[in-house]
Amino acid sequence: MNLKTQVGIIGAGPAGLLLARILYNNGIESIILENRDEAYLRKRLRAGVMEQGTVDTFMKAGVGARLEKEKMVHEGIHLHVNGKANRIDVKDLSAGKVVTVYGQKNITNDMIDHAQKDDIQIIWEAKAEKLEGFHNENDSSIIHYSRYGKMHTIECDFIAGCDGFHGVSRTALPTTEKNIHTCEFPYSWFGILAEAPPVCHEVIYAHHPAGFALQSMRGPELSRLYIQCPNGTDPNAYEEEWLWDELDKRLGITNNRGNIIDKGVAPMRSFVCDMMQSGRLFIAGDAAHIVPPTGAKGMNLAVADINVLSKGLIHHYQHNDNDILNRYTEICLRRIWKVERFSWWVTTTFHVSDDQDEFTTKMQEATISYILDSKIGAQSFTENYVGLPILWD
Ligand code: FAD
Ligand code: DHB
Repeated sequence: MNLKTQVGIIGAGPAGLLLARILYNNGIESIILENRDEAYLRKRLRAGVMEQGTVDTFMKAGVGARLEKEKMVHEGIHLHVNGKANRIDVKDLSAGKVVTVYGQKNITNDMIDHAQKDDIQIIWEAKAEKLEGFHNENDSSIIHYSRYGKMHTIECDFIAGCDGFHGVSRTALPTTEKNIHTCEFPYSWFGILAEAPPVCHEVIYAHHPAGFALQSMRGPELSRLYIQCPNGTDPNAYEEEWLWDELDKRLGITNNRGNIIDKGVAPMRSFVCDMMQSGRLFIAGDAAHIVPPTGAKGMNLAVADINVLSKGLIHHYQHNDNDILNRYTEICLRRIWKVERFSWWVTTTFHVSDDQDEFTTKMQEATISYILDSKIGAQSFTENYVGLPILWD
């Protein structure tokens, strides 16, 4: 089969689905290719915390009706040190900004529902294999994809690589080693979803000699909890009672214990590919960069990239103006590096390495103490947590 469209989108994660929606709202056609099946995508549990700008983007794109109804607004965040509780008043320190808890799974489902209602084509179980033609001004871009053992093509003006860290798009860019920047961390996150009301109605980050812990939620009756664990930990490694005891100890709270309905281990890495475009191929979201989950920035970064890419494509089609597209990488990277810094900084401040010396521990405690004791420290943390602006010029 040979399909034709204006923008060929690879990946139906938050980046790909949002791009298709914004383009649709502006009369631009697209087709999404997604490697996985629909049921898998609808069930995939991931991010939970949205910056103000992310919520605004979903609302403006017209996919925010359920988000508006079910969202949990957080006006603060708690930083616990050795079990001692402290709260930062995010709303007060950021002139009214807040963060919102609404699962990535929910917004993904909302966007798939809207896409299906409006006949935005998503081809499930279709794997992009090879991209070509995007370098040449006069050729169409071609995505070669496989589906149930057969090869097909999509001919398009532009290719949007929204295919996550393991996708094919980044590898099609003419990058060298110099374009790739990485940092691996010597710990992972063990995450659970439990049928239990969260004890604290806002997020808690905990620094503890036994390691980092985090309390979040996915609803009034659903706790989302994480503890730092060694790399390579088996998701079935821990007894449930040990896990709850460890969470209570590190967080310094008595969690409501409930049925654990999901368990998983997430490795932690920082990664930036500083070439995000070539010809008419653009990459966005996890395809271009990864942050460790501390700081809750991954999905928010993906949404910021799509804000830039969609605006660039709209200016191209509606005004024949390529200025934003030409500067796509530059505009995105300016924000990406700052968000990478924040995520790396919060990660290294709150986690404890196996061989950590006492001086490093004291530095971590002093860093947190500075955030808590200084209005400027708290404001700086908050400015990053609620989300930095996109700088267009
Ligand atoms: P993805 O969601 O990875 O989507 C890419 C899609 O492309 C996938 O569906 C994949 O199947 C598909 N694909 C891949 N290759 C191909 C191919 N060749 N052909 C076709 N399709 C392909 N972020 C936050 O902002 N806040 C948080 O609180 C947060 N918490 C997190 C907690 C955990 C435990 C984890 C693991 C992540 C968390 N994140 C968080 C990060 C966030 O989930 C990701 O950054 C986000 O999913 C990135 O979206 P994306 O659309 O760029 O990529
Ligand atoms: C989640 C919340 C966070 O604050 C964070 O840093 C990472 C993940 C969550 O709710 O999943």
